[in-house]
Amino acid sequence: FNKLKEGLLSVTSSEESKEAAGVDDDNGNESTVSITVVGASGDLAKRKIFPALFALYYEDCLPKHFTVYGYARSKITDAELRNMVSKTLTCRIDKRENCGKKMDQFLKRCFYHSGQYDSQQNFVDLDKKLKEHEAGRVSNRLFYLSIPPNIFIDAVRCASMSASSGNGWTRVIVEKPFGRDSESSAALTKALKQYLEEEQIFRIDHYLGKELVENLSVLRFSNLIFEPLWSRQYIRNVQLIFSEDFGTEGRGGYFDNYGIIRDIMQNHLLQILALFAMETPVSLDAEDIRNEKVKVLRSMRPLQLENVAVGQYKSHTKGGVTYPAYTDDKTVPKDSLTPTFAAAALFIDNARWDDVPFLMKAGKALHNKKAEIRVQFRHVPGNLYNRNFGIDLDRATNELVIRVQPDEAIYLKINNKVPGLGMRLGRSNLNLHYAARYSKEIPDAYERLLLDAIEGERRLFIRSDELDAAWALFTPLLKELEEKKIIPEYYPYGSRGPVGAHYLAARYNVRWG
Ligand code: NDP
Ligand code: BG6
Repeated sequence: FNKLKEGLLSVTSSEESKEAAGVDDDNGNESTVSITVVGASGDLAKRKIFPALFALYYEDCLPKHFTVYGYARSKITDAELRNMVSKTLTCRIDKRENCGKKMDQFLKRCFYHSGQYDSQQNFVDLDKKLKEHEAGRVSNRLFYLSIPPNIFIDAVRCASMSASSGNGWTRVIVEKPFGRDSESSAALTKALKQYLEEEQIFRIDHYLGKELVENLSVLRFSNLIFEPLWSRQYIRNVQLIFSEDFGTEGRGGYFDNYGIIRDIMQNHLLQILALFAMETPVSLDAEDIRNEKVKVLRSMRPLQLENVAVGQYKSHTKGGVTYPAYTDDKTVPKDSLTPTFAAAALFIDNARWDDVPFLMKAGKALHNKKAEIRVQFRHVPGNLYNRNFGIDLDRATNELVIRVQPDEAIYLKINNKVPGLGMRLGRSNLNLHYAARYSKEIPDAYERLLLDAIEGERRLFIRSDELDAAWALFTPLLKELEEKKIIPEYYPYGSRGPVGAHYLAARYNVRWG
């Protein structure tokens, strides 16, 4: 033990960027990156990781020398892996002939090694194969753990002890869930740190790689018009909304152990909230940004049961089609109380955000699929245009909407005079619609995050103290929900969710956008 740590310590940051680019180091040695997708036979690897790697290759973002290895227990050959992967690669960037050629070139760089996750010998065998491809160059190794959490530690132990780089860096991307409460998360962190330094652990939250989430800081800190308004003085409430128009299809086994609060709120929505609410960081350096995010999380009130509404979808027939209930999933116990929907009011007890409700809503099997941030501003003081001009300005306040997906957009709802000789007010949107403004397709979140991990950029990954602070907020609530066996409010598949969410918002004088 522990080649990994030695590998990390031998690489300085300027060397890291040279190596990421695959250029010669100071001794004239070329470097290479070996990317091992652990759990390569799984859903995430096929749907997201391999396509993202291909897109990076297509865009010439991968280093000159790289190899991709799939690792899993399934006994398949290199050719079978390539065949499997080829089905999910898309030529979204360039649909012409060149793309097919590029795909073939990429697939030639993909290999497969079958092994157990807890076998050091199997990782020793992988190490030998990686070395053959690395051909004596400085070797940098990235392991992507795309496997269920109960085998994370085995895989990290074996990879670190038997397949880490001897002369370059070794990094490990870890997929959520990072535990299911404060205790299990701390135990996972402790176990990971037996084998890895914190700098080697890249905890992924793919929402941080989404274009509009990344743009949040740019919007705020590079436009003079927003930052002065970004406080309790002008903002009435902030809403963070996630909805999917399908259920837990195929993932019920995983989901039932976690529920929507752990699956979406404690990570994706909370991360957005932290970025939204943080103070200006000292710089764009990963540690400076993460320091500010931690401060926000630590200033928040732990969630209380009375500030939460939970729901679970039930079967619904529409247009002759019957949509299943959550508990119709064979992998879900019939009497499961796991929430598939939750709404919550959160508060940040600091000078900027005192008493401003941050309302979160997340649900599966709802009427639409979207993720957005809605910022509702206070009403205009005074009475100049109130009441008699067509709209009620106490209600028609400005609202800034950041639509993370689908159809990315940022728009600001304003009140304006309807053209004509009279004086009537109307509502309009000042709209930045991405598809209209930019012709290039937006990269998938996994592309950005994989590239950052290869380049050693940690800004969009979760630091362990952020994770602790996030769990500290949600753990008491999750325990209470489970101990008291709180019965979720049932809502029909494809509906707008339980009415409890509206009562909760109404308590804070808020209407969901
Ligand atoms: P899968 O359930 O598809 O598992 C990935 C691979 O792990 C399987 O192909 C299988 O490979 C191996 N595996 C599965 N179960 C076990 C087990 N009990 N013991 C040992 N090996 C097992 O997972 P996903 O690909 O869906 O997800 C991977 C990780 O990413 C998980 O941590 C998940 O929570 C997380 N994640 C997934 C998302 C998704 O959309 N799928 C989204 C966000 C996070 P083999 O049998 O060949 O060894
Ligand atoms: C994952 C959740 O983290 O995010 C899934 O585990 C959810 O339940 C998914 O479906 C949503 O991601 P996206 O990028 O499709 O919005």
